[in-house]
Amino acid sequence: MFDTYRNAVVTGATSGIGRATVLELNRRGLSVYAVGRNQEQLDELSAASGVVTIKADVRDTDKIASALEGVEVDILVNNAGILSTRATFHEMDPAEIDAMIDVNLKAPMHLTRALLPGMVKRKRGHLIYIGSSGGRAPYPSMGAYGPSKAGLSLFCDNLRCDLLGTSVRVTEVVPGRVQTDLYRTAMAGNSARALLYDGYRSIQPENVSSIIANAIELPVFVDVARIEVLPTDQATGGGTMIKFQD
Ligand SMILES: NC(=O)c1ccc[n+]([C@@H]2O[C@H](COP(=O)([O-])OP(=O)(O)OC[C@H]3O[C@@H](n4cnc5c(N)ncnc54)[C@H](OP(=O)(O)O)[C@@H]3O)[C@@H](O)[C@H]2O)c1
Repeated sequence: MFDTYRNAVVTGATSGIGRATVLELNRRGLSVYAVGRNQEQLDELSAASGVVTIKADVRDTDKIASALEGVEVDILVNNAGILSTRATFHEMDPAEIDAMIDVNLKAPMHLTRALLPGMVKRKRGHLIYIGSSGGRAPYPSMGAYGPSKAGLSLFCDNLRCDLLGTSVRVTEVVPGRVQTDLYRTAMAGNSARALLYDGYRSIQPENVSSIIANAIELPVFVDVARIEVLPTDQATGGGTMIKFQD
């Protein structure tokens, strides 16, 4: 299905959108390198699909790059991401601010820096970033997550400027609410499921992975620069005003 590309790397491969993307790209004929931290889930993924797994924290650029030594990486899907515990910014654990920026913004930038020179040299490549609607509009309790994703979004635009003439494409996929385990860190116990998904018609990880694969499959002179994917039943915007009580 993919004439131009052979090898794809997907981070955050052990669950949600990342796992679905690994399986979809593998199904469409690519050799996929799945990066994740959970060995059991990596083994399960490899047994189910035959993909190559790389056990690494996404912040460990050197480990990932050395595991990919000799591989001509054509596609990099920067998907791994975290959401802090739900809290107003003035109550947020300061360590979570660093974690958001490190995992959601710095790690994709460093992995891009490591793998991009080969793509530029070969004049063949597609960089894909999973942004968020939280990076395009303010939401309560997303004071660190939102800026990390907004930074990622601007990074995509900057890359497009630098990559003119290289034939390397850059795509930012910007989902609204998708039914995954992302919110397990944000809310205690299983409350995320009840609060966010029960009774809602939610986007499934496979809906996002098919959009990613379709964007890759377009002719190389076509770049889906940014695509927003919201549940039909979700909207952003509106204003909030409260009555001040002293
Ligand atoms: N779900 C949504 O509503 C939604 C909306 C907008 C954007 N997104 C974005 O979509 C992307 C995928 O999230 P998801 O919804 O599929 O949630 P998910 O199921 O929680 O998947 C996140 C993945 O990232 C991995 N990860 C987190 N920190 C990592 C680290 N330091 N090193 C390596 N892997 C790490 C997780 O692995 P571990 O299990 O090892 O932590 C997991 O495999 C994220 O960037 C997220 O911000 C999600």
